[in-house]
Amino acid sequence: MVQTPIDSSIVSKAIANSGIENIGLASIRALLGLVAEIEKESGEKFIRMEMGIPGLSPPSVAIEAEIAALKKGVGALYPPFAGIPELKEAISRFVKLFINADIESNCCLPTVGGMQGCFMGMMVSGRRITGKDRVVFIDPGFPVNKLQAQVLGLKSDSFDVYSYRGEKLGEKLESYLKKGDVAAILYSNPNNPSWICFTDDELKTIGELCTRYDVIALEDLAYFGMDFRQDFGRPGEPYIPSVSQYTDNYILIISASKSFSMAGQRIGMSAISNKLYYSKGDGLETWFGSDQFGHSFTYGAMYTICSGVCHSTQVALTETLNAVCDGKFDYVSEIKEYGERANIMKKHFMDNGFYIVYDKDDDQPIADGFYFTAAYPGLKGTELVEELLYYGISAISLITTGSEKDEGIRVCVSLTGKDRFDDLEERLKQFHKDHQAGFRAGK
Ligand SMILES: Cc1ncc(COP(=O)(O)O)c(C=O)c1O
Repeated sequence: MVQTPIDSSIVSKAIANSGIENIGLASIRALLGLVAEIEKESGEKFIRMEMGIPGLSPPSVAIEAEIAALKKGVGALYPPFAGIPELKEAISRFVKLFINADIESNCCLPTVGGMQGCFMGMMVSGRRITGKDRVVFIDPGFPVNKLQAQVLGLKSDSFDVYSYRGEKLGEKLESYLKKGDVAAILYSNPNNPSWICFTDDELKTIGELCTRYDVIALEDLAYFGMDFRQDFGRPGEPYIPSVSQYTDNYILIISASKSFSMAGQRIGMSAISNKLYYSKGDGLETWFGSDQFGHSFTYGAMYTICSGVCHSTQVALTETLNAVCDGKFDYVSEIKEYGERANIMKKHFMDNGFYIVYDKDDDQPIADGFYFTAAYPGLKGTELVEELLYYGISAISLITTGSEKDEGIRVCVSLTGKDRFDDLEERLKQFHKDHQAGFRAGK
């Protein structure tokens, strides 16, 4: 009789009571509820890898600036929809110094997280030109982006990039663009969930196709600068690879949640290429009252959704960006910890029979960062999610992220501090020993 780290009768009962038909396909929220229930019943703490929430504190420069702004009374004043001028300037400087993108401050604005940037990016791109109302998602990806497209009434297509890296990417993308109805291509880089990073050649391919087919690249930089194989923490070279070097049809969607540990403050930034910002589209006026892209983005989308971003948080982000651009605050050194965790956690997985599913960029092993993917021979990703629950480990299956690999899970390292590494190692060791012997906890 195998004794799993979490009493198997408690896990089985909680699964049965949850009403979730297939645990491996459960949403993150449903999984959270289930794990909370098992933890309560068993008194054991899980190793939580399902949720992509940052586990680090916001920088003191942001906290102090926000407190000072509140004390000064900005809380009583509506900020401009397009952002306070100081922040617009700071974003413009930031994208120049870290991406080498020349974008006027007028074309840079704060958003309520990268999430809102993606939403507005799709909203305006998908209505810009009559007949172009489809978004192509390069998967695997962040499932909520597809829900956003759905809520906006846009059509969408997606494909798993696993088999289309390098030279194969162009032909695959073109097969969608050729149809003529694609408004935008959305991808995250580094990628959630796989942590692959597009190479410069791949970004060039995306950029050139966007120009040729008049399609907008929505480049989701939710994990800005977090490819720790290079040091992107200081202004100037090396620059963060970006499609902005290869086309004028782009919006950079940058989040402050992970790179600046400000998730709770719900702030991000969108930087729209100058050319796109001032361009016109025949579909815009009926929706937004203006035929100009940037005007539609700011006074159509931003105004109607939330009329701007929290005033004091804008001040916090301004000061943070200024410190980063002045070389006084190396944001990467603060968050490198995620990469260090991934390195050790990957090793524990791999020492115990697991392998990395999305393992390479070109011929280079992927970076250690916020996420990685792992699979165990003989188990589908959905089965693995369920099996791991008996071992006190929670994660989501890759299939829920648009991956076509039916093996594998996404591991998020953010909530697993070094104090849990021994538990992780021990639990994975037992998992491997039991499963090598043919044991299955779930069925
Ligand atoms: C790929 C991707 N895009 C956007 C976001 C959301 O970022 P924000 O917190 O800035 O809204 C996330 C957060 O997990 C993400 O993984």
